[in-house]
Amino acid sequence: MSDKAPYVTAAAATIGALGAAYYAYNLYQESRKPKLPNEWKQVGTIKDIYVYPVKSCGPVLLNKTECTTLGPRDGWLRDRVLMVVDEKNNFITARAYPELLLVQPSVKSSILTLKHSDMETLTVNLAEVIEIQNPKPATVWGVTVPVYDCGGDASEWFSRLLNRSADNFRLVYYASNKSRELRKSSKKFYKFTKNDTGALPDEVPFHLINEASVNELNSRLKDYQVTPRNFRPNFVVNGAKPYDEDNWKYIKIGENIFETIKPCTRCIMTTIDPETGIRNAKTEPLETLKSYRQIAEPEERKAAGNSPRMGLQMSLRSEPGGVISLNDPVYVPQ
Ligand SMILES: *[C@@H]1O[C@H](CO)[C@@H](O)[C@H](O)[C@H]1NC(C)=O
Ligand SMILES: *[C@@H]1O[C@H](CO)[C@@H](O)[C@H](O)[C@H]1NC(C)=O
Ligand SMILES: *[C@@H]1O[C@H](CO)[C@@H](O)[C@H](O)[C@H]1NC(C)=O
Ligand SMILES: *[C@@H]1O[C@H](CO)[C@@H](O)[C@H](O)[C@H]1NC(C)=O
Repeated sequence: MSDKAPYVTAAAATIGALGAAYYAYNLYQESRKPKLPNEWKQVGTIKDIYVYPVKSCGPVLLNKTECTTLGPRDGWLRDRVLMVVDEKNNFITARAYPELLLVQPSVKSSILTLKHSDMETLTVNLAEVIEIQNPKPATVWGVTVPVYDCGGDASEWFSRLLNRSADNFRLVYYASNKSRELRKSSKKFYKFTKNDTGALPDEVPFHLINEASVNELNSRLKDYQVTPRNFRPNFVVNGAKPYDEDNWKYIKIGENIFETIKPCTRCIMTTIDPETGIRNAKTEPLETLKSYRQIAEPEERKAAGNSPRMGLQMSLRSEPGGVISLNDPVYVPQ
Protein backbone atom coordinates (compact mmCIF):
# COMPACT_ATOMS: atom_id res chain seq x y z
CA MET A 1 0.00 0.00 0.00
CA SER A 2 1.42 3.46 -0.88
CA ASP A 3 1.69 6.44 1.52
CA LYS A 4 -1.10 8.14 -0.34
CA ALA A 5 -3.68 5.53 0.59
CA PRO A 6 -4.99 7.21 3.78
CA TYR A 7 -5.51 10.46 1.89
CA VAL A 8 -7.23 8.71 -0.98
CA THR A 9 -9.51 6.92 1.50
CA ALA A 10 -10.27 10.18 3.32
CA ALA A 11 -10.99 11.93 0.03
CA ALA A 12 -13.26 9.09 -1.06
CA ALA A 13 -15.09 9.26 2.27
CA THR A 14 -15.54 13.03 1.88
CA ILE A 15 -16.82 12.63 -1.65
CA GLY A 16 -19.12 9.89 -0.42
CA ALA A 17 -20.49 12.13 2.33
CA LEU A 18 -20.96 15.01 -0.11
CA GLY A 19 -22.68 12.66 -2.51
CA ALA A 20 -25.05 11.47 0.23
CA ALA A 21 -25.76 15.07 1.28
CA TYR A 22 -26.40 16.01 -2.34
CA TYR A 23 -28.70 13.01 -2.77
CA ALA A 24 -30.60 13.92 0.41
CA TYR A 25 -30.87 17.55 -0.73
CA ASN A 26 -32.31 16.42 -4.07
CA LEU A 27 -34.82 14.20 -2.30
CA TYR A 28 -35.78 17.15 -0.11
CA GLN A 29 -36.22 19.39 -3.20
CA GLU A 30 -38.33 16.68 -4.86
CA SER A 31 -40.48 16.32 -1.75
CA ARG A 32 -41.14 20.08 -1.78
CA LYS A 33 -42.41 20.01 -5.36
CA PRO A 34 -46.16 19.63 -5.54
CA LYS A 35 -47.21 16.19 -6.76
CA LEU A 36 -48.79 16.65 -10.15
CA PRO A 37 -51.99 14.71 -10.81
CA ASN A 38 -51.83 11.91 -13.38
CA GLU A 39 -55.47 10.92 -13.89
CA TRP A 40 -57.32 13.39 -16.08
CA LYS A 41 -60.76 13.92 -17.57
CA GLN A 42 -61.59 16.20 -20.48
CA VAL A 43 -63.69 19.28 -19.69
CA GLY A 44 -63.43 21.26 -22.93
CA THR A 45 -61.22 22.36 -25.81
CA ILE A 46 -59.07 25.37 -26.66
CA LYS A 47 -61.09 27.78 -28.80
CA ASP A 48 -58.79 30.82 -28.95
CA ILE A 49 -55.18 31.65 -28.11
CA TYR A 50 -54.20 35.29 -27.50
CA VAL A 51 -50.85 36.89 -26.77
CA TYR A 52 -50.50 40.55 -25.75
CA PRO A 53 -46.90 41.62 -26.45
CA VAL A 54 -47.50 45.16 -25.10
CA LYS A 55 -49.26 45.38 -21.73
CA SER A 56 -52.74 46.96 -22.15
CA CYS A 57 -52.52 47.02 -25.98
CA GLY A 58 -54.41 44.77 -28.41
CA PRO A 59 -53.93 41.01 -28.78
CA VAL A 60 -52.27 38.86 -31.40
CA LEU A 61 -54.29 35.74 -32.26
CA LEU A 62 -52.33 32.53 -32.59
CA ASN A 63 -53.07 29.01 -33.82
CA LYS A 64 -50.43 27.57 -31.51
CA THR A 65 -48.11 28.78 -28.80
CA GLU A 66 -45.13 27.55 -26.87
CA CYS A 67 -45.46 27.62 -23.08
CA THR A 68 -42.58 29.14 -21.11
CA THR A 69 -42.13 30.05 -17.46
CA LEU A 70 -42.79 33.69 -18.45
CA GLY A 71 -45.97 32.86 -20.38
CA PRO A 72 -47.04 32.06 -23.96
CA ARG A 73 -44.45 32.59 -26.69
CA ASP A 74 -44.00 32.29 -30.45
CA GLY A 75 -40.41 33.27 -31.28
CA TRP A 76 -39.96 36.98 -30.50
CA LEU A 77 -43.67 37.28 -29.82
CA ARG A 78 -44.07 36.89 -26.05
CA ASP A 79 -46.85 37.81 -23.65
CA ARG A 80 -46.65 41.15 -21.80
CA VAL A 81 -42.94 41.77 -22.27
CA LEU A 82 -43.40 45.42 -23.30
CA MET A 83 -45.20 48.26 -21.54
CA VAL A 84 -45.65 52.02 -21.74
CA VAL A 85 -44.21 54.06 -18.86
CA ASP A 86 -44.58 57.70 -17.79
CA GLU A 87 -41.81 60.23 -16.93
CA LYS A 88 -41.25 58.45 -13.64
CA ASN A 89 -40.72 55.13 -15.45
CA ASN A 90 -43.91 53.85 -13.88
CA PHE A 91 -46.26 51.69 -15.98
CA ILE A 92 -49.48 53.06 -17.45
CA THR A 93 -52.44 50.93 -18.52
CA ALA A 94 -55.70 51.13 -20.43
CA ARG A 95 -57.51 51.71 -17.13
CA ALA A 96 -56.44 55.37 -17.40
CA TYR A 97 -55.54 55.38 -21.13
CA PRO A 98 -58.15 53.27 -22.95
CA GLU A 99 -56.66 54.29 -26.36
CA LEU A 100 -53.98 51.71 -25.66
CA LEU A 101 -56.49 48.90 -26.27
CA LEU A 102 -56.80 50.02 -29.91
CA VAL A 103 -53.08 49.67 -30.61
CA GLN A 104 -52.70 46.56 -32.77
CA PRO A 105 -49.36 44.84 -32.42
CA SER A 106 -47.77 42.21 -34.63
CA VAL A 107 -44.35 40.60 -34.44
CA LYS A 108 -42.44 39.19 -37.40
CA SER A 109 -38.95 37.88 -36.68
CA SER A 110 -37.64 40.50 -34.20
CA ILE A 111 -39.67 43.39 -35.66
CA LEU A 112 -42.55 44.67 -33.51
CA THR A 113 -45.12 46.61 -35.56
CA LEU A 114 -47.73 48.81 -33.88
CA LYS A 115 -50.79 50.11 -35.72
CA HIS A 116 -53.52 52.51 -34.69
CA SER A 117 -56.13 54.07 -36.98
CA ASP A 118 -55.03 57.64 -36.07
CA MET A 119 -51.30 57.01 -36.37
CA GLU A 120 -48.63 56.11 -38.87
CA THR A 121 -47.33 52.59 -38.38
CA LEU A 122 -44.47 52.25 -35.89
CA THR A 123 -41.81 49.56 -36.11
CA VAL A 124 -39.31 48.63 -33.41
CA ASN A 125 -36.53 46.08 -33.92
CA LEU A 126 -36.43 44.28 -30.58
CA ALA A 127 -33.08 42.58 -31.39
CA GLU A 128 -31.52 46.04 -31.85
CA VAL A 129 -33.12 47.33 -28.65
CA ILE A 130 -31.40 44.52 -26.74
CA GLU A 131 -28.07 44.97 -28.48
CA ILE A 132 -27.50 48.68 -28.10
CA GLN A 133 -28.14 49.34 -24.44
CA ASN A 134 -27.99 48.49 -20.77
CA PRO A 135 -31.13 47.87 -18.76
CA LYS A 136 -32.63 50.64 -16.61
CA PRO A 137 -35.22 50.29 -13.83
CA ALA A 138 -38.97 50.80 -14.30
CA THR A 139 -41.88 49.91 -12.03
CA VAL A 140 -45.01 47.84 -12.49
CA TRP A 141 -47.47 47.55 -9.58
CA GLY A 142 -44.79 48.90 -7.22
CA VAL A 143 -42.20 46.27 -8.24
CA THR A 144 -38.94 47.39 -9.84
CA VAL A 145 -38.13 45.59 -13.11
CA PRO A 146 -35.14 45.89 -15.48
CA VAL A 147 -36.13 47.20 -18.91
CA TYR A 148 -34.61 48.31 -22.19
CA ASP A 149 -35.85 51.59 -23.66
CA CYS A 150 -37.36 51.21 -27.15
CA GLY A 151 -36.11 54.61 -28.34
CA GLY A 152 -37.25 58.10 -29.33
CA ASP A 153 -39.60 57.20 -32.19
CA ALA A 154 -41.64 54.85 -29.99
CA SER A 155 -41.70 57.47 -27.23
CA GLU A 156 -43.00 60.13 -29.61
CA TRP A 157 -45.56 57.72 -31.08
CA PHE A 158 -47.13 56.84 -27.72
CA SER A 159 -46.91 60.43 -26.47
CA ARG A 160 -48.79 61.70 -29.54
CA LEU A 161 -51.33 58.85 -29.37
CA LEU A 162 -52.17 59.66 -25.78
CA ASN A 163 -52.37 63.38 -26.64
CA ARG A 164 -49.76 64.55 -24.24
CA SER A 165 -46.60 66.47 -25.06
CA ALA A 166 -44.12 64.75 -27.35
CA ASP A 167 -41.91 63.05 -24.78
CA ASN A 168 -44.09 62.08 -21.84
CA PHE A 169 -44.28 58.37 -22.46
CA ARG A 170 -41.77 55.68 -23.37
CA LEU A 171 -42.10 52.11 -24.60
CA VAL A 172 -39.91 49.69 -22.62
CA TYR A 173 -38.97 46.02 -23.04
CA TYR A 174 -38.52 43.55 -20.15
CA ALA A 175 -34.77 42.90 -19.74
CA SER A 176 -34.68 39.57 -17.93
CA ASN A 177 -35.28 35.89 -18.59
CA LYS A 178 -36.58 35.37 -15.06
CA SER A 179 -39.94 36.10 -13.48
CA ARG A 180 -40.15 39.53 -11.90
CA GLU A 181 -40.19 39.91 -8.13
CA LEU A 182 -43.41 39.18 -6.28
CA ARG A 183 -45.72 42.02 -5.31
CA LYS A 184 -45.83 42.19 -1.51
CA SER A 185 -49.63 42.11 -1.40
CA SER A 186 -49.67 38.91 -3.51
CA LYS A 187 -48.06 36.91 -0.68
CA LYS A 188 -50.90 37.50 1.76
CA PHE A 189 -53.15 34.66 0.75
CA TYR A 190 -51.99 32.89 -2.41
CA LYS A 191 -48.98 30.56 -2.67
CA PHE A 192 -46.78 32.01 -5.37
CA THR A 193 -43.38 30.47 -6.15
CA LYS A 194 -40.64 32.61 -7.66
CA ASN A 195 -41.64 31.33 -11.14
CA ASP A 196 -45.23 32.53 -10.92
CA THR A 197 -45.06 36.26 -11.68
CA GLY A 198 -44.13 36.35 -15.38
CA ALA A 199 -42.59 39.40 -17.07
CA LEU A 200 -45.08 42.33 -16.95
CA PRO A 201 -48.57 40.84 -16.47
CA ASP A 202 -50.64 42.11 -13.54
CA GLU A 203 -49.99 38.99 -11.50
CA VAL A 204 -49.50 35.60 -13.13
CA PRO A 205 -48.12 34.46 -16.56
CA PHE A 206 -51.12 32.48 -17.92
CA HIS A 207 -54.75 33.52 -17.93
CA LEU A 208 -57.66 31.27 -18.92
CA ILE A 209 -61.32 32.14 -19.54
CA ASN A 210 -64.22 29.68 -19.78
CA GLU A 211 -66.48 30.83 -22.63
CA ALA A 212 -69.55 29.26 -20.98
CA SER A 213 -69.08 31.54 -17.95
CA VAL A 214 -68.96 34.61 -20.21
CA ASN A 215 -72.17 33.39 -21.92
CA GLU A 216 -73.82 32.93 -18.54
CA LEU A 217 -72.76 36.46 -17.55
CA ASN A 218 -74.23 37.78 -20.82
CA SER A 219 -77.57 36.15 -19.97
CA ARG A 220 -77.71 38.45 -16.90
CA LEU A 221 -76.73 41.65 -18.74
CA LYS A 222 -79.41 43.91 -20.16
CA ASP A 223 -78.79 45.74 -23.50
CA TYR A 224 -75.05 45.09 -23.34
CA GLN A 225 -72.94 42.03 -24.13
CA VAL A 226 -69.32 41.17 -23.53
CA THR A 227 -66.96 38.68 -25.15
CA PRO A 228 -64.00 36.77 -23.70
CA ARG A 229 -61.86 39.60 -25.09
CA ASN A 230 -63.16 41.95 -22.36
CA PHE A 231 -61.19 39.76 -19.95
CA ARG A 232 -57.92 39.69 -21.94
CA PRO A 233 -57.22 35.95 -21.57
CA ASN A 234 -54.44 33.90 -23.18
CA PHE A 235 -56.70 30.86 -23.56
CA VAL A 236 -60.44 30.58 -24.16
CA VAL A 237 -61.94 27.18 -23.35
CA ASN A 238 -65.24 26.05 -24.81
CA GLY A 239 -67.40 23.02 -24.06
CA ALA A 240 -67.20 23.32 -20.26
CA LYS A 241 -70.02 24.12 -17.83
CA PRO A 242 -70.38 27.74 -16.62
CA TYR A 243 -68.09 28.44 -13.64
CA ASP A 244 -66.83 24.85 -13.59
CA GLU A 245 -63.35 26.46 -13.70
CA ASP A 246 -63.82 27.52 -10.06
CA ASN A 247 -62.93 23.89 -9.22
CA TRP A 248 -59.95 23.47 -11.54
CA LYS A 249 -56.80 23.34 -9.38
CA TYR A 250 -54.69 21.82 -12.15
CA ILE A 251 -55.25 22.02 -15.90
CA LYS A 252 -53.60 19.96 -18.61
CA ILE A 253 -53.51 21.21 -22.19
CA GLY A 254 -51.39 19.27 -24.69
CA GLU A 255 -48.36 18.09 -22.73
CA ASN A 256 -48.47 21.14 -20.46
CA ILE A 257 -49.66 21.06 -16.87
CA PHE A 258 -50.69 24.29 -15.16
CA GLU A 259 -51.49 24.99 -11.53
CA THR A 260 -54.12 27.58 -10.69
CA ILE A 261 -52.42 30.18 -8.49
CA LYS A 262 -55.55 32.25 -7.91
CA PRO A 263 -58.88 33.16 -9.44
CA CYS A 264 -58.66 36.29 -11.57
CA THR A 265 -60.36 39.07 -9.63
CA ARG A 266 -61.70 41.68 -12.00
CA CYS A 267 -61.34 45.44 -12.27
CA ILE A 268 -62.59 48.39 -14.29
CA MET A 269 -60.59 47.19 -17.32
CA THR A 270 -63.41 44.72 -18.15
CA THR A 271 -65.81 47.66 -18.63
CA ILE A 272 -63.81 49.14 -21.53
CA ASP A 273 -64.96 47.85 -24.92
CA PRO A 274 -61.89 46.12 -26.42
CA GLU A 275 -62.96 47.08 -29.97
CA THR A 276 -63.78 50.77 -29.39
CA GLY A 277 -61.93 51.71 -26.19
CA ILE A 278 -65.20 53.20 -24.83
CA ARG A 279 -66.04 52.77 -21.16
CA ASN A 280 -69.46 51.32 -20.37
CA ALA A 281 -71.57 54.07 -18.79
CA LYS A 282 -73.12 51.68 -16.25
CA THR A 283 -69.77 50.06 -15.34
CA GLU A 284 -70.89 46.76 -16.81
CA PRO A 285 -70.12 43.90 -16.71
CA LEU A 286 -68.36 44.67 -13.41
CA GLU A 287 -71.50 45.70 -11.49
CA THR A 288 -73.38 42.56 -12.48
CA LEU A 289 -70.37 40.36 -11.74
CA LYS A 290 -70.11 41.92 -8.29
CA SER A 291 -73.69 40.91 -7.58
CA TYR A 292 -72.93 37.18 -7.68
CA ARG A 293 -69.21 36.50 -8.13
CA GLN A 294 -67.50 38.00 -5.08
CA ILE A 295 -65.26 35.69 -3.10
CA ALA A 296 -67.07 34.16 -0.12
CA GLU A 297 -64.22 32.48 1.80
CA PRO A 298 -63.32 35.06 4.52
CA GLU A 299 -59.48 34.85 4.39
CA GLU A 300 -59.41 34.89 0.61
CA ARG A 301 -61.90 37.73 0.60
CA LYS A 302 -59.44 39.79 2.67
CA ALA A 303 -56.84 39.32 -0.08
CA ALA A 304 -59.22 39.90 -2.99
CA GLY A 305 -61.47 42.63 -1.60
CA ASN A 306 -64.82 43.00 -3.32
CA SER A 307 -63.48 42.38 -6.83
CA PRO A 308 -65.56 39.65 -8.48
CA ARG A 309 -63.88 36.61 -9.97
CA MET A 310 -63.89 35.52 -13.60
CA GLY A 311 -61.24 33.26 -15.10
CA LEU A 312 -58.11 31.60 -13.74
CA GLN A 313 -54.54 32.76 -13.28
CA MET A 314 -52.19 29.85 -13.82
CA SER A 315 -48.52 28.96 -13.77
CA LEU A 316 -46.66 26.32 -15.74
CA ARG A 317 -45.76 23.24 -13.67
CA SER A 318 -44.52 20.94 -16.46
CA GLU A 319 -41.24 21.50 -18.33
CA PRO A 320 -41.15 24.70 -20.40
CA GLY A 321 -41.26 24.32 -24.19
CA GLY A 322 -44.53 22.41 -24.61
CA VAL A 323 -46.94 23.55 -27.33
CA ILE A 324 -50.67 24.35 -27.18
CA SER A 325 -52.72 24.42 -30.38
CA LEU A 326 -56.29 25.45 -31.20
CA ASN A 327 -58.76 22.60 -30.56
CA ASP A 328 -56.45 20.90 -28.05
CA PRO A 329 -58.47 19.06 -25.38
CA VAL A 330 -58.45 20.64 -21.92
CA TYR A 331 -58.22 18.23 -18.98
CA VAL A 332 -58.57 18.56 -15.22
CA PRO A 333 -57.79 15.97 -12.52
CA GLN A 334 -60.25 13.11 -12.29
C1 LIG B 1 -54.37 29.99 -38.40
O1 LIG B 1 -55.01 29.00 -39.18
C2 LIG B 1 -55.92 29.52 -40.14
C3 LIG B 1 -56.67 28.37 -40.75
O2 LIG B 1 -55.81 27.32 -41.09
C4 LIG B 1 -55.11 30.35 -41.14
O3 LIG B 1 -55.98 30.91 -42.09
C5 LIG B 1 -54.39 31.47 -40.39
O4 LIG B 1 -53.57 32.19 -41.28
C6 LIG B 1 -53.54 30.90 -39.29
N1 LIG B 1 -53.02 32.00 -38.48
C7 LIG B 1 -51.78 32.07 -38.06
C8 LIG B 1 -51.41 33.25 -37.21
O5 LIG B 1 -50.94 31.23 -38.31
C1 LIG C 1 -56.31 63.87 -29.59
O1 LIG C 1 -56.02 64.94 -30.46
C2 LIG C 1 -56.73 64.87 -31.70
C3 LIG C 1 -56.24 65.98 -32.59
O2 LIG C 1 -56.07 67.18 -31.90
C4 LIG C 1 -58.24 64.94 -31.41
O3 LIG C 1 -58.95 64.81 -32.61
C5 LIG C 1 -58.62 63.79 -30.49
O4 LIG C 1 -59.98 63.88 -30.13
C6 LIG C 1 -57.78 63.79 -29.24
N1 LIG C 1 -58.06 62.58 -28.47
C7 LIG C 1 -58.23 62.61 -27.18
C8 LIG C 1 -58.48 61.26 -26.54
O5 LIG C 1 -58.21 63.61 -26.51
C1 LIG D 1 -32.16 35.68 -22.25
O1 LIG D 1 -31.81 34.46 -22.89
C2 LIG D 1 -31.36 34.61 -24.21
C3 LIG D 1 -31.21 33.24 -24.83
O2 LIG D 1 -30.56 32.37 -23.95
C4 LIG D 1 -30.06 35.43 -24.22
O3 LIG D 1 -29.61 35.60 -25.54
C5 LIG D 1 -30.33 36.78 -23.57
O4 LIG D 1 -29.14 37.52 -23.46
C6 LIG D 1 -30.96 36.63 -22.20
N1 LIG D 1 -31.41 37.95 -21.74
C7 LIG D 1 -31.10 38.43 -20.55
C8 LIG D 1 -31.59 39.79 -20.27
O5 LIG D 1 -30.46 37.80 -19.72
C1 LIG E 1 -38.47 27.66 -12.02
O1 LIG E 1 -38.31 27.37 -13.39
C2 LIG E 1 -37.05 26.85 -13.76
C3 LIG E 1 -37.02 26.75 -15.26
O2 LIG E 1 -38.08 26.03 -15.75
C4 LIG E 1 -36.89 25.50 -13.06
O3 LIG E 1 -35.62 24.97 -13.35
C5 LIG E 1 -37.02 25.69 -11.54
O4 LIG E 1 -36.99 24.45 -10.89
C6 LIG E 1 -38.32 26.39 -11.19
N1 LIG E 1 -38.35 26.73 -9.77
C7 LIG E 1 -39.42 26.51 -9.00
C8 LIG E 1 -39.31 26.96 -7.58
O5 LIG E 1 -40.43 25.99 -9.43
